[in-house]
Amino acid sequence: RNLKWQMECRSDIYRLNAQFLSIYESLIPPEEEKAKQKQLLTLLEKLVCKEWPEARLYLYGSCANSFGVSKSDIDVCLAIGDADINKSEVLLKLADILQSDNLQNVQALTRARVPIVKLMDPVTGISCDICINNLLAVVNTKLLRDYAGIDVRLRQLAFIVKHWAKSRGVNETYQGTLSSYAYVLMCIHFLQQRKPAILPCLQGMRATYSVTVDDKKCAFFDQVENLCDFGNRNRETIAQLVWGFFNYWAYGHDYTSSVISVRTGSVISKLEKDWTRRVGNDRHLICIEDPFETSHDLGRVVDKFSIKVLREEFERAADIMHFAPNPCVKLFEPY
Ligand code: CTP
Ligand code: MG
Repeated sequence: RNLKWQMECRSDIYRLNAQFLSIYESLIPPEEEKAKQKQLLTLLEKLVCKEWPEARLYLYGSCANSFGVSKSDIDVCLAIGDADINKSEVLLKLADILQSDNLQNVQALTRARVPIVKLMDPVTGISCDICINNLLAVVNTKLLRDYAGIDVRLRQLAFIVKHWAKSRGVNETYQGTLSSYAYVLMCIHFLQQRKPAILPCLQGMRATYSVTVDDKKCAFFDQVENLCDFGNRNRETIAQLVWGFFNYWAYGHDYTSSVISVRTGSVISKLEKDWTRRVGNDRHLICIEDPFETSHDLGRVVDKFSIKVLREEFERAADIMHFAPNPCVKLFEPY
């Protein structure tokens, strides 16, 4: 089938593949950037520990899940054991401490959906968001990072998809399009579904890692170094996978009745989740199940206007992969 696709659709598949790989390489953050992130984290740990000696800081999001491109901001979670703390008070106190240590643009956003303190470190030039006790995000960050350790094609695909989504303006949750986190889950799910599969379903395997966060049991197989030849029977290259990904979301996915689920490694039905009708602001027009907060549909931000934008963008991307003479330029053209 792969060969057939190469012959029928694109005779320039090798060139295309090399181009995608070089875009991927150019997006990887250089080592010195990682070192600067560590440096900032160490400074923050020092400041936080003076006030809350028992507290711990965790990196989460793209700086820790291995899907971060160069020059990203970093996401930090301040874990304070006590569940009864007043988050707003802690955030305001934290903002005070950071401000007096010459960190810049310090701002406590206590009314946001996820309340945070924002800051910019003038020494490293890195911006940072700090949230409180959001440990599920720390655990789902580990799940994503572990998936990335199994087959390099996941990281390649997700970098290309995130780069596309940012270039095309469809990575804006406040405008009804999807988060980076949602796009990475879509990539994982897609690679779980390839025949032969490129990724396994870690939550469906014997649990070697298990924690309980906010009364939710999060358990999965995390010895991924033992899975590094899992995808070897599938020889698809990044250009084919990018094409397949967009083709699936343009023409293959059943938006009326399906939910994609990384947790089960399969497609499940909206009926089963009771996601068939609008409840409050959740419209379930594109359904992406959170792997641990299984009542969360990461597509809930999508409304009747933005679903159209999204689906047109998927179709545009699929058609470019099929027909355009120079997909690597066309795909990422600013909207
Ligand atoms: N997150 C979450 N639930 C969501 C959105 C985000 O738990 N609905 C958590 C995830 O741990 C995710 C992190 O918040 O890794 C950051 O989310 P996001 O900004 O979407 O992703 P990044 O990977 O940081 O992407 P970017 O490079 O665009 O910053
Ligand atoms: Mg982020």
